Amino acid sequence: MTNKRTELQVSAIRSGTVIDHIPSENTFRVFQILNLEHVRDQVFLGTNLESKKLDKKGIIKISGKFFEPSEINKIALVAPDATLIEIKEYEVVKKGKIFPPQTIDKIVKCANPKCVTNNQNIETKFNIITDYHGKAKLFCHYCEKTIAQEDIWFV
Ligand code: CTP
Ligand code: ZN
Repeated sequence: MTNKRTELQVSAIRSGTVIDHIPSENTFRVFQILNLEHVRDQVFLGTNLESKKLDKKGIIKISGKFFEPSEINKIALVAPDATLIEIKEYEVVKKGKIFPPQTIDKIVKCANPKCVTNNQNIETKFNIITDYHGKAKLFCHYCEKTIAQEDIWFV
């Protein structure tokens, strides 16, 4: 008989936020956009996990933190089908889909080298528009350049 453990699970959290159903390849991007490197409480990150909905999924659990919708909505650019779950006293108190914001500030770089945001100390600002395929695109508030979702560059 060996004492090898065949199963180790990321534990449930007592209080905080879970972001589930992140496309695996974007898990670290979500971590970055939410600035989780500055969180002092426990943060669990799992990637390449099995999922019924997605091919492979990522999950992030942040103890002791609840986000404003404006913070969470930023991740809709890289995790449009993510689920936001809030936990209190080990119980799920809120669970829902995230929604793309109408505008996105600061975190994305404009692709136009001549844009004022690339030449002066001005923070970027984009409006989100949906094309006829239902795909989100970013429209620069300053130079009107359109950026497709797959061409987004984060600052
Ligand atoms: N969760 C957690 N800590 C808790 C309760 C739940 O970390 N105290 C996590 C679970 O691991 C799960 C998510 O929050 O990833 C949603 O919990 P729940 O709705 O109970 O799970 P499922 O029914 O498995 O959700 P789904 O089928 O939507 O994946
Ligand atoms: Zn621009």
